[in-house]
Parts: sequence; C-alpha cells; structure tokens
Amino acid sequence: MNRPLYRIRQYLATRKSKLSYLEIDFVRKYLNHQEQILFFRMKGFDQRHGITVANKCLEKTLEVNWINKTQMARVALLHDIGKSSADIGVNYRVLYVLLGAIAKGKLLKSLAKKNSRIALKRKLFVLDNHGLLGAKMLMDVGCTDNEVLQVVAKHHDTPEVGESKLLPFLREIDATL
Ligand SMILES: [Fe+2]
Ligand SMILES: [Fe+2]
Repeated sequence: MNRPLYRIRQYLATRKSKLSYLEIDFVRKYLNHQEQILFFRMKGFDQRHGITVANKCLEKTLEVNWINKTQMARVALLHDIGKSSADIGVNYRVLYVLLGAIAKGKLLKSLAKKNSRIALKRKLFVLDNHGLLGAKMLMDVGCTDNEVLQVVAKHHDTPEVGESKLLPFLREIDATL
C-alpha cells in the first residue's frame, strides 16, 4: 500500500482505542507529573502511538548498552506532545499526510501559517512544527534534560553529526508506525 494511505489507515485503526491500566502505569513510570499532564492532553490515538513507539524502542535497544533506557522511553512517549497545541482530529491528520505527499511538501509549507485567521492553516502549522512546539512545552514545565529536549525538537529533522544517539532509534521506529 502506498505510504500516505497506509498512514491514514493507521490513524483510523487506532482512533477509538483506550489505554489499559498497564499502559497508564507504563506512562507513570517514566514521566513526572507535569509531563504526564502533557502526555494525557494528547488525543487518544497519539497517546497509544507514543506507548507503542516507546515499547518498540525499548525492545530495539534492549541489548544496546550505550543507550539510556529511561531516556529512550521518555523521548518516545513525549516525541509528539507538540501536536496537542491545537485540537487536530483525524480529518486534519489525513489532509496533512496527503498535502505532505504533494510536490515534496512545498504546498504544505506554503499553507501552514502560525498566526493565520484560518484554522486549517494554523493546524497545519502545528502538525508541521510539532517537534519544536513539543520541546518548548517541555521547557515550560521545567524539563532541563537537554538530550530529551533535543530529541523531541528534532525527531523529524534530517540526521546530523553529533546529534543524540537516541534519535536514529526513535526515527526508525516512528517511521514504521
Ligand atoms: Fe512526530
Ligand atoms: Fe510519532
């Protein structure tokens, strides 16, 4: 199946899923109180996505002794919290994915505007910049772990020399879900 359509199907598949007590405990284990508020402010399908990414990242790094597992789980749970800066439902997600597939995302970039009076443009801006927005939200609640902030901010950026070692794992797993 082509990738944008696959992504849309994924969103729809997880639309109604509720977290189990075990999953909620998993979130509580790794996030402090303020971070939990940011996590649970996300849409249900974004919460489920964060937990799935975290579990898969932990699985993938199980034998990798140079990866801090607590940090790995934390960045995976928190990486998409920036999406909760606006109320963005499934239809906007679908549109965002489709626009991103047109003209190498140029149309999307031209439409996404931070302070537009048009809700669609503001929502596209949030989706397109959710990494940086998420890092800012974490700083606002007192997160001082620079590695966590960097990974959340850059999880959709092109890999660069000297970046956090957590980023390749997060990007790889995130791209499969
Ligand atoms: Fe993301
Ligand atoms: Fe993600």
